[in-house]
Amino acid sequence: MKKILLVHGPNLNLLGKRDKNHYGDLTLDKLVELVRSDALKYDIEIESFQSNHEGALVDFLQEKTKEAVGVIINPGALTHYSYALYDALVDTGLPCVEVHLSDVENREEWRKILVTAPACIAKISGKKELGYIEGLSLLIERLERLNNLDSNF
Ligand code: DQA
Repeated sequence: MKKILLVHGPNLNLLGKRDKNHYGDLTLDKLVELVRSDALKYDIEIESFQSNHEGALVDFLQEKTKEAVGVIINPGALTHYSYALYDALVDTGLPCVEVHLSDVENREEWRKILVTAPACIAKISGKKELGYIEGLSLLIERLERLNNLDSNF
């Protein structure tokens, strides 16, 4: 089975307890479950990782690149300032999609700065958990076009 990496950055382990207006009701476990069950429709395996530490996210991407065909990432606040994570995403050589649960472009000024998104083929924000479903389908479309997937679905 082909594998997509589902990566979450700082504070996203607290989903379910964070501001529900911005981030929705789901815990991280429930969110991962949702993406995983959607991915099964495409015969895709999801490997999920969350860390509050920038370096751990970079290490994970470096270690797992060889096993995966794509990345879905919500870098949390790192999206606004992490050049290291931008580089790590580019260096995977894989199509990456960035997802934000909240509408980052219509919140504080500093959240409008998106450092990691340009490393990605798409950025989806403000759709809560549905953004991940959309992100997965965009990624699948791209992979099919790259012929990185069996296209019998
Ligand atoms: C977030 C948006 C970021 O600005 C914030 O720091 C997060 C979550 C989102 O999913 O909306 O932690 O990435």
